Amino acid sequence: RIWDGPRQEVLSPVQVADDTGPKPLFVGEYPLLTEAEALEALDAAVAAYDHGRGVWPTLSVSERIDHMERFVFRMIEEKDRVVRFLMWEVGKSLRDSEKEFDRTVQYINDTLSALKDLDRISSRFTMEEGIIGQIRRAPMGVVLCMGPFNYPLNETFTTLIPALVMGNTVILKPPKHGALLYAPLLAAFREGFPKGVINVIYGEGRKVIPPLMASGKINVLALIGSSKTANALKKLHPSPNRLRCVLGLEAKNPAIVLKDADLDLAVKECVLGCLSFNGQRCTALKILFVEAGIADAFLERFAAAVTALSFGMPWIEGVFVTPVAEKGKTDYLGELVSDAVANGARIVNPAGGSVCGSFFFPAVLYPVHPNMRVYYEEQFGPVIPILPFDKIDEPIAYMIQSSYGQQVSIFGSDPDQIARLIDPLVNQVCRVNINSQCQRGPDTFPFTGRKDSAEGTLSVSDALRVFSIRTLVAAKQT
Ligand code: G3H
Repeated sequence: RIWDGPRQEVLSPVQVADDTGPKPLFVGEYPLLTEAEALEALDAAVAAYDHGRGVWPTLSVSERIDHMERFVFRMIEEKDRVVRFLMWEVGKSLRDSEKEFDRTVQYINDTLSALKDLDRISSRFTMEEGIIGQIRRAPMGVVLCMGPFNYPLNETFTTLIPALVMGNTVILKPPKHGALLYAPLLAAFREGFPKGVINVIYGEGRKVIPPLMASGKINVLALIGSSKTANALKKLHPSPNRLRCVLGLEAKNPAIVLKDADLDLAVKECVLGCLSFNGQRCTALKILFVEAGIADAFLERFAAAVTALSFGMPWIEGVFVTPVAEKGKTDYLGELVSDAVANGARIVNPAGGSVCGSFFFPAVLYPVHPNMRVYYEEQFGPVIPILPFDKIDEPIAYMIQSSYGQQVSIFGSDPDQIARLIDPLVNQVCRVNINSQCQRGPDTFPFTGRKDSAEGTLSVSDALRVFSIRTLVAAKQT
């Protein structure tokens, strides 16, 4: 609808210079909904679901697939505009912004294929002890989807799409950074789905989300963000037992580089793992344990590789280091570096930790100790703590003590030694990467974590299960 209320100005992390000096670029504005308006959107979602009797939850799977295919077609027409917003709003390079868009389209197509398979399985009848049973997948109700700024389109869609195709209705709250890129998609949502099925709400999260949770009408909270937010929101729901949570939260993924590792490969993968999109990924490598005998050699090559990275504005071809997305983030990263240096670490790479506008030049810190903040805190940015170890028990003890348990990378060339390490590692995290960086994809693989890192599993097929409930239709054979 035409908006005449207050708006939030969006400034890009990308700065441009005019006669008065560098300034963040103005990207656009979004409406700031009031609490009452957010609740109106919730009522629309509740009415469209109508206790499972609404148009959307009662459509056949193939009808829902038709809607989704029409939506994807329209979404692809908007690619250029969405990609540009993504680049301007979060400072992601043009190439990575395009990748994020294409990966999202691929994710939708894979979801539709998985849905067809699931539907085939759900249509089967099985006979057990004289009872004929059909196990179906039924929707859960109203899903609140909130995604992160680092993948504002792709990760949000990894909850939105499965929630929708399983017959739920949705409230979608775009992230603060990455809100405007939804503007070109609003018409596609409106044309693609019946009224009330997708409701996009804009506004300050701390104002518009609590009343939705407190209403008790949200059946699934799908949040990719911080555990602090997730815990606060869960507590607001009046009947927590009726709330399902699908959460992708923090991580502090370590890499373990063994002394027989292929150093070139380990350095290449660790640089990508630590610094892709400036380390602003939950899956980024956030602490490197290097076996003492090779620490100097690793450090020298790693620092040289970091120094060679190209930096610049996100639209420049081949650029690697771009501005960090969040306001105030360069200050936080600077504090982590100062704290480490004050407690005995050195910055290994020249210019590491220097700041220019919203650029933060990656800082490689060595040797890092448990008395430094960066040892524990999830930096979510281009600061790389490295420490030597003598015994493999040391990085494993780190993982045991950590509040997080998402992934680990291990680099080495002795298959027997790596095989022996897999069991202790899979008991700490949900993905062990051998001779490669940590990452979420391919999206058909399960994506989750232990401890404070996740709740529920997201992948193309797991997500279909997470956003639905198994329901048995049973008849006694007569
Ligand atoms: O921020 C967390 C994302 O799930 C990371 O995804 O490994 O594909 O970059 P990615």
